[in-house]
Amino acid sequence: DWEMQDVLEEEIKVTKRMVGPDEHVICALSGGVDSTVAATLVHKAIGDRLHCIFVDTGLLRYKERERVMSTFQSDLHLPVICIDASDQFLSKLKGVKDPECKRKIIGREFISIFDDFAQELEKKLGKKPTFLVQGTLYPDVIESCPPPGSGKTHSHTIKSHHNVGGLPEDMKLKLIEPLKCLFKDEVRKLGGILNVPESFLKRHPFPGPGLAVRVLGDVTEGNALEILRQVDEIFIQSIKEAGLYDSIWQAFAVFLPVQSVGVQGDHRTHSHVVVLRAITSEDGMTADWYYFDHKFLVDVVRKICNNVRGVNRVCQDITSKPPATVEWE
Ligand code: XMP
Repeated sequence: DWEMQDVLEEEIKVTKRMVGPDEHVICALSGGVDSTVAATLVHKAIGDRLHCIFVDTGLLRYKERERVMSTFQSDLHLPVICIDASDQFLSKLKGVKDPECKRKIIGREFISIFDDFAQELEKKLGKKPTFLVQGTLYPDVIESCPPPGSGKTHSHTIKSHHNVGGLPEDMKLKLIEPLKCLFKDEVRKLGGILNVPESFLKRHPFPGPGLAVRVLGDVTEGNALEILRQVDEIFIQSIKEAGLYDSIWQAFAVFLPVQSVGVQGDHRTHSHVVVLRAITSEDGMTADWYYFDHKFLVDVVRKICNNVRGVNRVCQDITSKPPATVEWE
């Protein structure tokens, strides 16, 4: 793609010009496409004066930390450190049931970890990092400042969105936003040129607060997170095996804080209920639920109930957005 090749060369040039020869740049990688492509581009421009951090919040999916770290390190050779902050996040979230409180706590912890990272780095380098890379896209630019008189409000008022890219305001860092003129499909093309693996570029969106918005209520209760990870993995693998992954905008499982009565062999069980949600969408602003065929659903429910201890009932969410949102919290 010649056009994207030009964009790439231009953005590398701009980045080189912007960042002085002994200045340092930091970046929070979320594991998503945008921050990964942005960081890879900046790395091409300034090399290891880029310093990336990936935070394991304890709210990631099955083997997600290993999988994304392997892409960052083995495929992309990004200078990245992984901070395991699961205990910190989960202890702050203990007992918290309100969805907005959960989102705020997660946002706050992120900033605090990122602050620590920047300070550590300053000690190591003997100087402050001066730039922050963000994977802001063109639609984000329009969304956060709707044209005057458009009648549009800020799109993030329904839920306080937390985005790993959208970090600190008071750190006085200058921003590098190499993707801010691009749409998502263009970012994917750019990522292809930068050798970001195809499977990574096609991953479904994943919310910043992670599984916290998919375990309803207190995320630390019982082994909710572990059960959710297993159910989600079976669901996603089944979707991939059926060749449906690329036709679906987003698919995931949700853990409900209720138990239902079931029967296994000749035993009564009293176990958890999980929900499967799959949607199609253009941009996440509106969505339709995805219609799986009967056999697919029969197989996936059987796999879940046979393999995941503690689940005896599987439901499917067949609500569009609106009136529902994509995520349950
Ligand atoms: P909702 O649930 O608001 O989700 O209909 C719309 C899209 O946004 C994703 N989402 C988030 N993404 N930080 C993010 O980066 C967040 O806090 C967040 N909350 C929701 C959601 O997965 C869907 O794609």
